[in-house]
Amino acid sequence: MLISFIRYNEKIDKFLYICVGTDMKLLFMYMKTYLMKRVFLVLSLFLASCSACTECSTSKEHTAKVSNSSDEYDFVFKDINRCIGEPLIAEYANKEGNEYSKEKVALGELLFNETLLSGDKAVSCATCHSFDKGGTDNLPLSIGVDSLPSLRNAPTVINAALHFRQFWDGRAEDLEEQAGGPILSPIEMGMASEEAVEATIRAVPKYQELFKKAFPNEQEPITFENIRKAIASFERTLIFPSRFDKFLAGDIKALNNEEKKGLHYIQVFSCTSCHKGTLMGGDRYERFGNDTSGPYWEYTHSKVDENGQYDLGRYKETGKEKDKYFFKVPSLRNVETTFPYFHDGSVETLPEAIRIMAQIESNIELTDKEVNAIESFLKTLTSEQKGRTLVN
Ligand code: HEC
Ligand code: HEC
Repeated sequence: MLISFIRYNEKIDKFLYICVGTDMKLLFMYMKTYLMKRVFLVLSLFLASCSACTECSTSKEHTAKVSNSSDEYDFVFKDINRCIGEPLIAEYANKEGNEYSKEKVALGELLFNETLLSGDKAVSCATCHSFDKGGTDNLPLSIGVDSLPSLRNAPTVINAALHFRQFWDGRAEDLEEQAGGPILSPIEMGMASEEAVEATIRAVPKYQELFKKAFPNEQEPITFENIRKAIASFERTLIFPSRFDKFLAGDIKALNNEEKKGLHYIQVFSCTSCHKGTLMGGDRYERFGNDTSGPYWEYTHSKVDENGQYDLGRYKETGKEKDKYFFKVPSLRNVETTFPYFHDGSVETLPEAIRIMAQIESNIELTDKEVNAIESFLKTLTSEQKGRTLVN
C-alpha cells in the first residue's frame, strides 16, 4: 500500500520529463520518495504548465533525430549529453608527470603481467585484474600470495584512470600511487620492501634494457617509483568505450527501445544522481544505504570481519563519523562483466544488485520489468575492444 502510494507513475513521469527537463524530474523523484508525492505533484504540474513545454534539449540536431525516429523511449536522447555526459573516447588518460610514451606503456604491460613482482612468484596484477574477466577476477574476494583472501572485491582496471580517486574508499590519489599498494601488500603480492622489488627487477637483463628506453636520461631508471609509473601508464591506455558511446555521440539507433527505457528508468529512479557523468560513477563517495533503508548488510547479507564488524568504508581511512559506510560510487561501465557486486562481492547477479540499489539508495521496490530494462541498458556499457565486446 505504502509502496504503491509512493510508486513511480510512468505517464506522469514522462510528461514531466519531456516538459520540464531532467532537473525538475529528479527533484520530483526525490520528493516523492519521501512521501510528499501528492503535494509535490501539484507543484510540479504547476511549474510544468508555466514552463509550457519549452525547449529543454541541448542540441537541435538531437531534437530533429527524435522526431524522425519511432521508438517509444526516443525522448531520452534529447538532452542526453546534458543529463549524462559526453562520449568516452579511447585515448591515453594523460597525467602530468606521467605522459604517454610507447616504450613506457609497453613496459607497463609487461610489469602488469609480471609474477616476479610477488613474494611467491605466482601472482601478478593480471591475476586479479584479468582482461578475460572484464579487468577483474569474478571472485567475491580475490586470492593473493599464499592463497590469502583480500579484504574487498577487486574492481576493474578498465577506465579506472578516469576515476577521481582509486580503491573502494578512495585511499589512493591516482593510479601511480595505487600501483605500489598491491606489490607490497602482504595479502596481495607480498613483496618485502621497495628495495626488494627494485633488486628483483634489476636482476633481469631484459628489464635493464626496457627501463632505459622508457625512462631515458635517468641514471638509474629501475626504481620503485618508475615501476609504479610504467604500470600506471599502461593502465592509462585502458579507456574502452562501448555501444552507449555511439548513442552519446548522436546515433539514436545505437540503443534499442528496451535499452532506452532502461536509460530512462535509471534517471527517474535517481541512479544517475550518484552514478554520474560519462563513466556513470567514479567521481564521488556516497553512503551505502540511507537513513530510511536500514544498514546495507540486511540486503546484501555481507559478512563481518574478524573483529565482528561490517566494512565501515571510508571511515576506516579517515576515522571521521560522517564517513561511516561511505564508499566510492563505482562506475557502471562494464558492470555486466564485473560480477559479483559491491565492495565485498556479496551479491552475485546484476538484477539483484539493481534491485538492492533501488531499495536502499532510492527507497523503491522495482518490478521485474523495470529491473530487466535497467539490466538491458547497463549491458550497453560493456566495452568494445578491437571490434568485439568484452563478453563475446
Ligand atoms: C590479490 C589480488 C590483487 C592483485 C594481485 C592486485 N589487485 Fe588491484 N585490487 C584488488 C582489490 C581487492 C582491490 C580493491 C581494494 C580496495 O578497494 O580496498 C583492487 C583495486 C585496484 C585498483 C582500484 C580500482 C578502483 O576502481 O578503485 C586498481 C587501479 C588496481 N587494483 C590495480 C592493480 C595493479 C596495477 C596491480 C599490480 C601492481 C594490482 N591491482 C594487483 C585485488 C588485486
Ligand atoms: C545515493 C547514491 C546512489 C544511488 C542513488 C544509486 N547508487 Fe548504485 N551504488 C552506490 C554506491 C555507493 C555503490 C557501492 C556500494 C558498495 O559496494 O559499497 C553502488 C553500487 C552499485 C552497483 C554495484 C557495482 C559494482 O561494481 O559492484 C550497481 C550495479 C549499482 N550501484 C546500480 C545502481 C542502480 C541501478 C541505481 C538506481 C536504482 C543506483 N545504483 C542508485 C551509490 C548509489
